[in-house]
Amino acid sequence: MGRTLAAAIGIASIAAAAVASAEPPAGAASCSGCHPASTRVTSPVPRLAGLDRAAIVRAMQDFRSGTRTATVMDRIAKGLTDQEIQAIAAWYATQK
Ligand code: HEC
Repeated sequence: MGRTLAAAIGIASIAAAAVASAEPPAGAASCSGCHPASTRVTSPVPRLAGLDRAAIVRAMQDFRSGTRTATVMDRIAKGLTDQEIQAIAAWYATQK
């Protein structure tokens, strides 16, 4: 019984992860205008793909609050809700 439930939860979270990484969430597509999607692009703006989820969330919250100084990210972060930041960070963390 316990095993079956654990297995069911395991399958459900795998399915959720697969759905989450399939399509970029709202707002994520706009990031790639400045943050390169390809490793072959040389840019002073760091790639987001593969960054740690918590690190992206922290950076966005610090940009938004002004704790971390920025040229443009402060303004971009102010346009996003906590939920959007979480979704974007989770999505980028799963990208290669
Ligand atoms: C107009 C160009 C532009 C867009 C669009 C943009 N960024 Fe940025 N991003 C920057 C720049 C430039 C920096 C460096 C900090 C600064 O000067 O603002 C940065 C820094 C960051 C950092 C810190 C990275 C690190 O490792 O230090 C994160 C995280 C980030 N951006 C996330 C995002 C997300 C998420 C989006 C989409 C919602 C986004 N950015 C859209 C230009 C952009």
